[in-house]
Amino acid sequence: MGIKNRRTFLHIIGGGIIAFFIFIWNKLTLNHIEISGEREKTLPFNKNKAISFYDNYIIVNQENKTTVLSSHCTHLGCRIDKQENGRLVCPCHGSEYDLNGSVLKGPAYKNLRIVPSEITDEGKNILIKG
Ligand code: FES
Repeated sequence: MGIKNRRTFLHIIGGGIIAFFIFIWNKLTLNHIEISGEREKTLPFNKNKAISFYDNYIIVNQENKTTVLSSHCTHLGCRIDKQENGRLVCPCHGSEYDLNGSVLKGPAYKNLRIVPSEITDEGKNILIKG
């Protein structure tokens, strides 16, 4: 392979690597838009259940106070779908949050987003706004 062919080969490989990173960046950005693009959603509400997990949301009932948290971990966005001893635990890298969404253990360092919500239909449903 001559110098010119080697240079062409490196240009093609370099272009491929750049295209790959643009593709990944685009995917991550579109996923973010999809998550934040969800505006209002009605979910069933059970005031007797302390913690309910629904796709992008976690509904937490504590002493007459209901809080809806985003289920997306603030570290790299994995969906939190379990609790252990009153802590919300991320399955990916083990970040833990309390039931108000505050970080208890990293690697995440930002709290979970609190999502505005309203209990509707005489307590049967919860309207999630955002
Ligand atoms: S994505 Fe949750 S700890 Fe990394």
